[in-house]
Amino acid sequence: MKTKTKTTQSKTKNFMSLLCLFGLCLSAQAVAETLTIACGAVGQERQYCIDSVQRWSALTGHDVSVINTPDSSSDRLAMYQLLLRERHDTVDVFQIDVVWPGLLHKYLLDLSDYIPLSDINAHFPALIANNKVDDRLVAMPWYVDTGLLYYRKDLLQQYGLEVPKTWPELRSIAQKIVDAQRVNNPGMTGYVFQADSYEGLTCNFVEWLGAAGRGTMISPQKTVDLNHPKSAGVLDFMRSMVRSPLTPDTILEFREEDARAVFQGGNAVFMRNWPYAWNLAQQSDSVVAGKIGVAPLPGMTEQTAGAGTLGGWQLAVTKYTRHPQLAADLVNFMTSTAEQRTRLALGYFPTRNSLYQQIPSADIQPLFDAVGTTLETAVARPATQLGKDYKDASRAIYVKVHDFLAQEAGTGAELLDVLSDEIEHVSMGRVVHN
Ligand code: GLC
Repeated sequence: MKTKTKTTQSKTKNFMSLLCLFGLCLSAQAVAETLTIACGAVGQERQYCIDSVQRWSALTGHDVSVINTPDSSSDRLAMYQLLLRERHDTVDVFQIDVVWPGLLHKYLLDLSDYIPLSDINAHFPALIANNKVDDRLVAMPWYVDTGLLYYRKDLLQQYGLEVPKTWPELRSIAQKIVDAQRVNNPGMTGYVFQADSYEGLTCNFVEWLGAAGRGTMISPQKTVDLNHPKSAGVLDFMRSMVRSPLTPDTILEFREEDARAVFQGGNAVFMRNWPYAWNLAQQSDSVVAGKIGVAPLPGMTEQTAGAGTLGGWQLAVTKYTRHPQLAADLVNFMTSTAEQRTRLALGYFPTRNSLYQQIPSADIQPLFDAVGTTLETAVARPATQLGKDYKDASRAIYVKVHDFLAQEAGTGAELLDVLSDEIEHVSMGRVVHN
C-alpha cells in the first residue's frame, strides 16, 4: 500500500550530496527520517499531496511515503479508526475531514505544542475553533470545500436559458435541454450528484435543508430541529427528480468521481460537486473543457438562497508517531501560505485569510467567485454539536435518505420524523426533539 516516490528519493540523494560537499555527510545521513502520510485520493488529490511532500523532502532531506486511502470519506474514516485504535505508528500524518476532530481527537497530538502561534493565527479563526477539542488543537486546516453547481454554459446559451436560481427552475431547464439533446445523445442526463449511501449524501441532504431555509439541524439549545414542512417538501422534490429519467439509472451509486465522469464526458447538464472538479473538467482530456460554468447551488424558491455544505480537510498528527516534531513540521509546511497558494491554482481553497486578498489567475476566477458567494451562506453539518456521535448520526442520515430516494413509499415528512428520533437516539439524549 505504501508508495515512496522515486523523485523524492532522488531529490533526497541530491540534497544529501550537497550536504556531503559541506562536510555534513555522516550526521545528515544519520538524521534523515521517513514519515508516512495518509492523503485523500479523489480526483488528482493524491498526486498533489505527493507533489507537496516532495517539496518538503527537497528542503529537509527527510523522506515521506504517501499511502493510498479509499475515495469515500466514510470508508477512509473506518480505515483511520482501525489504525488509530490499534495505536499504529505506521502512519504519522492523517488528512482528516472537517467533521472528524470530535471523533478522532483522543488519538491526535495537540499541534499548538509544536507549531508557532503566528502560523496558527494566520488561518481562519472559525477553522481553528473547529479543530480544537477541549482546547487542544488536534489538526491544522488545509483546505476549504463547499458544494457548488456546475453547468453546461454552452447548452444554456444555445437554448437561450439562464443559470437556475431555484431547484424547480433547474429541473425544468434540465428537462428542456435533455429532451432536445437526447435526439443525438441518448445518454444525456439532467442532473448528477452524490446519492450513494456515504458521507457525500449527508452533505447533499444538508444542502437540501439549506435550500429550504432550514440548514441548521441541531439548535444551539441542543434540540433536533429537523421536521419542517419546507424541508419535507424539498426531500419529496429531490426524490421525484431522482426517480425521473433526468438522473442516470445508477445515480444511487454515485460518489464525487462518478458525477464528475458523467459531467466531464458531456452527459449531464448540471452537476453538484466540490471545487476540485473545476480544474479537472477544464483540462484538455475533458469533453466539456471551455464549455462549463460554476455557480452557487439553487434555493427552493427565489426567497431562499441556495446553500453549499461546508467541507474541507485538515492535517493531523497521531499521538503514536515516533517523530512528533518532524510530523508537525511537515503539517506546517503543507498548510503554509506558499503551499496553499500553489494548491489554490489547482482548485483547493486556502484556509489562510491572506490568500483571499490576492487576485487569482483568470482560469479559476469563476470558481473563486462562486466559492466566495457560497461561503457567505454555507451550511455546516452538526459535527461540533454531536462530537463523537457525529459518525453514527451521519450514518443514520445517509442510510435512511438513500433508502428514501430508492423507493416510492413514505414521505419526506415521515423520513424527517424517523431521522429526528435516530439522531436523538445516537446522541443518547444529549440532544432532544424540539
Ligand atoms: C469532500 C468534503 C468533505 C466531505 C466529503 C464527502 O471531500 O471536503 O468535507 O465529507 O466531500 O464526500
